[in-house]
Amino acid sequence: MTPQTITLTQPDDWHVHLRDGVWLPLTVLHSARYFGRALIMPNLDPPLTTLPKVAAYMKRILAHKPKGAHFQPLMTLYLTEGMKPDLIKEARMRGGIYGVKLYPAFATTHSTKGVANIKAVYSVLETMQEVGLPLLVHGELSDSTVDVFDREACFIERVFIPLLKDFPELKVVFEHISTKVAVDFVKSERERLRATLTAHHLLYTRSDCLAHEFNPHLYCAPILKRASDRRALIEAATSGNPKFFLGTDSAPHARRQKESGCTKPGIYTAHIALELYAEVFEAAGKLERLEAFASFHGADFYGLPRNRQKIILSQQSWKVPLQYRIGNETLVPLRGGTSVRWKCRILFQ
Ligand code: NCD
Ligand code: ZN
Repeated sequence: MTPQTITLTQPDDWHVHLRDGVWLPLTVLHSARYFGRALIMPNLDPPLTTLPKVAAYMKRILAHKPKGAHFQPLMTLYLTEGMKPDLIKEARMRGGIYGVKLYPAFATTHSTKGVANIKAVYSVLETMQEVGLPLLVHGELSDSTVDVFDREACFIERVFIPLLKDFPELKVVFEHISTKVAVDFVKSERERLRATLTAHHLLYTRSDCLAHEFNPHLYCAPILKRASDRRALIEAATSGNPKFFLGTDSAPHARRQKESGCTKPGIYTAHIALELYAEVFEAAGKLERLEAFASFHGADFYGLPRNRQKIILSQQSWKVPLQYRIGNETLVPLRGGTSVRWKCRILFQ
């Protein structure tokens, strides 16, 4: 039997962490290898809270764009309780900002400047609703009394439902959903609510991270959940429902950090992003739905044209490097040292 090959419209990544400085040569290279556009998360340290900071970061990213690549970083702002509604108006007027990211304070990496009291950002959300700028939500309650496995469900109850009621026209993306509860919630709401799905939540469960031995390289936020949640996520991704689209949440941390006594959440997947999603869709018998999930649904929601380039995915086993060098540090990529069964290449027009 000849190995299977599929051609897709070039996809976009609607949620990625490229980091800064010494990280950029590798992270930009990997993302630009597959994606026409990538929505760049603003959780640098310090976070991206002003337009000049965002513009300067975009320039640093573009300095590493490989020659000939069709790659456009789409920038976002980091929502803080101090943000002024005028900033949203200015962002809309100038263009170049595609969303505002809500991190509940202390929910994840570099979220200490995030939002502790949602009411404190209501005037900003009002303006976002008015000008049509999407709110990108890390949907986990960071209350220490709430069990870490229940934080997504509790966030829906206590924050999301009232928020959607108070802002009926606000466009919202529920990022990296990890539970069946979140899938059902997104399905039940009108078209203005969408969700991104990571490859790692589609491929792994909490047992992969926690059973037998703790694997810090599978530790992420939201933490991986149970098999029934994973099944619901796969069903949503492969269903053809335009509410669900690709967002890798590729989030590199140095090996030293990941293997220390205080592991930060984040999994690096950008080096095999499309290959991983292809595995999921293949296993579900829905490869023909990968293109819409990866290349159409997100662009349509953000009001951007679909990409013109094509990519080819072929069944061809290849070995992922054990690690990548980043300045004086190393990065352990997902599946490092093992083989993946798909290989992706881009056809430029
Ligand atoms: C992300 C990071 O490291 O920046 N980590 C993660 O586990 N996903 C932040 C985030 O998106 O939560
Ligand atoms: Zn993220």
